[in-house]
Amino acid sequence: MNSVKGSSRDGPVLVTGGAGYIGTHIGAALMKAGHRIVILDNFSNSTPLAVDRLNSLGLGCAELVEGDVHDEALLDRVFSADRFSGVIHLAGVKAVGESVAEPIRYYDINVGGALSLVAAMVRHQISRLIFSSTATVYGDPAKLPVAEDASLQPEHPYGRSKLMIEQMLQDVAAAQPWMRIMSLRYFNPVGAHPSGRIGEDPKGIPNNLFPYIAQTAVGVRDEVRVFGDDWPTPDGTGIRDYLHVMDVAEGHVAALTHLIDGGGKSGRNLAVNLGSGHGTSVLEVIRAFREATGREIPYRILGRRPGDVAAYWADPTYAERLFGWTAKLSMAEICRDHWNWQSANPDGYK
Ligand code: UFG
Repeated sequence: MNSVKGSSRDGPVLVTGGAGYIGTHIGAALMKAGHRIVILDNFSNSTPLAVDRLNSLGLGCAELVEGDVHDEALLDRVFSADRFSGVIHLAGVKAVGESVAEPIRYYDINVGGALSLVAAMVRHQISRLIFSSTATVYGDPAKLPVAEDASLQPEHPYGRSKLMIEQMLQDVAAAQPWMRIMSLRYFNPVGAHPSGRIGEDPKGIPNNLFPYIAQTAVGVRDEVRVFGDDWPTPDGTGIRDYLHVMDVAEGHVAALTHLIDGGGKSGRNLAVNLGSGHGTSVLEVIRAFREATGREIPYRILGRRPGDVAAYWADPTYAERLFGWTAKLSMAEICRDHWNWQSANPDGYK
């Protein structure tokens, strides 16, 4: 194979899972910042319509490759076609309950997929990798806010698969000191692009709070189910660190810029929180959504959801020190943009 080797400053960025919720927003932020992007997605939990929408925002045209990160020959073809400036790896599965029922599938897709990708990067000497990790690697944190040096005790196969990938990348970074690897631990990304053209389109009944609230507000669901009002929190409902998906996307642009400018040389896989630093309870989110949209959000208190924890939010100061990123958008802006997307697209991309 006539392989193109090595990273460049100006080459395209490969975004695996780039047709998904977070991926399309990262694509928008990257193109706005002047990057070319190539999306690799197998559409297992996404649709090519999302890429069409992304490409209609007037920011540029993402190249789309349909396929799977397990496909070594495909990765070789993609990496041979250009000198990539970096890779953002989002492709994977992410439903906590499903991971308990199907651990082998979770480890195969998440850990196996990341292994195949990083092996191809080593073959093609592509140095910069940003991995989509999660705050769930911390489990039920002993101390708040949660900083990167907190103990890592994920409580389900999904969380453990993400931690395993972080650890694997740590070993690769140590063995391949020319590589620049960073894992970004997302807290709870919510909201949508301010255009209302791209957003979260969960298949079936949403697991997560924000899409459930938005579908209730638009009339697709009858009422929000609040999982427990007997948690040890001020109003008894669970507290999370919600941050606007465009802030998450800007975090990736800032992290990639840092790596391109020579950061991340330590031979370590740097793990960095992306959170707002603020905790918001379920009832506070429902209230904020109602205030931002003027819609009634009926809700009913149910028992606790198995596997949930009471409260956690990020210490986001390392990201600010390392690459100058902080979450800028408020809960009111989050609710406005999420509603903007949901009300314009009550059935998602369909
Ligand atoms: N909640 C409800 N009703 C719902 C859904 C959620 O009351 O219909 C509550 C939950 O009990 C929790 C809060 O809203 O207190 C947030 O729940 P989400 O399901 O929206 O988010 P989680 O914090 O449980 O998990 C999310 C992702 C995980 C990821 C984690 C990282 O789903 O994949 O954030 O922080 F690992």
